[in-house]
Amino acid sequence: MMGEISGIRLAYEEYGRGNPLALLLIHGFPLDGRMWLGQVAALAEVAHVIVPDLRGHGRSEVPPGPYTMEQHADDMATLLEHVGVERAVIGGLSMGGYVAFAFWRRHRARVRGLALLDTRAEGDSEAARANRDASMRRVREAGVAAFVEDMLPRVLAPASLADSTIADEARRIMAAQSVEGIVGALGGLRDRSDSRSVLPGIDVPVLVVGGAEDALTPPADMEEMAAAIPAARMIVIPRAGHLSPLEQPAAVNEALMRFLAQTSRSHTQK
Ligand code: MLT
Repeated sequence: MMGEISGIRLAYEEYGRGNPLALLLIHGFPLDGRMWLGQVAALAEVAHVIVPDLRGHGRSEVPPGPYTMEQHADDMATLLEHVGVERAVIGGLSMGGYVAFAFWRRHRARVRGLALLDTRAEGDSEAARANRDASMRRVREAGVAAFVEDMLPRVLAPASLADSTIADEARRIMAAQSVEGIVGALGGLRDRSDSRSVLPGIDVPVLVVGGAEDALTPPADMEEMAAAIPAARMIVIPRAGHLSPLEQPAAVNEALMRFLAQTSRSHTQK
């Protein structure tokens, strides 16, 4: 589906409409909503699942960047209004997690719970910021396909990389992104603010999910983040790297289903 959201065309899909509990699933970089295809059938049995392509990604419009986490968060709040949802569990992987933190900072009354997958609360270091600029040059000069081949070994566990079904799916989604969209996203990732100071004040149920072999946001970093959030539970997914929902969908679905069941029981009043 396509909506006119914050002045641009934003693509999204909805599953399980009619379920009272809503779940927004925000993809990582450089991906789009299709990275959740292994989740939606299972989750739609218990939740109204909304899966957007963030601005600059997938089938959404590619306006000039950089795409700040705040802008994405405001797009997501407008999208929830557009589909008639007042409060939702906000789920995000990596960049989607950064957007979830921005959403919490700006729209917390709309947050029923947070599912934070393979992500981190801190902003980019100086070195990471310089790497974002180098990545922008790389994608402009070498193109999307070469950029994706650089990324795949960093985001997939070795066994996933060797599994052509998983690797080809990740490659297919990443390769469909545009140079301008990737550059706009990199600028927003580089400039994002640090969310660590908000962690102790998060007072909704939180699930933290990390791939055991995630090299970008390793389990130890995720555990540190989870420990700073009062009501967080952490689940480590074996044989998964940074793209755990794509690499080990059954294990991630089980964790999300259990979390959604607990959240709908514990937060019916909020
Ligand atoms: C992602 O998967 O969204 C990216 O790894 C985020 C990042 O590069 O910080």
